[in-house]
Amino acid sequence: MNRFEPKIVAFLCNFCSYEGADRAGSSKLEVPPNIRSIRVMCSGRVEPEMVIEALTNGADGVLILGCHPGDCHFKEGNYKTLRRHSLLLRMLREFGIEPKRVRLDWVSASEGQKFAEVTNEMTEIVRSLGPLELTACR
Ligand code: FES
Repeated sequence: MNRFEPKIVAFLCNFCSYEGADRAGSSKLEVPPNIRSIRVMCSGRVEPEMVIEALTNGADGVLILGCHPGDCHFKEGNYKTLRRHSLLLRMLREFGIEPKRVRLDWVSASEGQKFAEVTNEMTEIVRSLGPLELTACR
């Protein structure tokens, strides 16, 4: 029997989470092949429209990973992301999309283990939700 393999777009901030992904790779940690990484300069650069666009173009889930609060290289970028995230979750509910399909988390450059854990957890959650069906939007 074929198991559903979700496509998950991961926006990774350049200074922390992208480096954390690299650390996971160099430490040979298991990261699911379901993750499609997009490097952004800061998590604060990820507009809600970019998340909606990913979902309407075939992603079953979206991860936004940035520096821990207080560590953003642009000072306030991740706080902006945090504020937008609650708005984004409300928008998703309006569109009938399960909020669990979009996760915001913090992964530092040294947290390869956390990167592996978050990506594996997210893959399992989205796999259990099944494919995203947006018949009205696609
Ligand atoms: Fe990483 Fe802003 S530079 S969240």
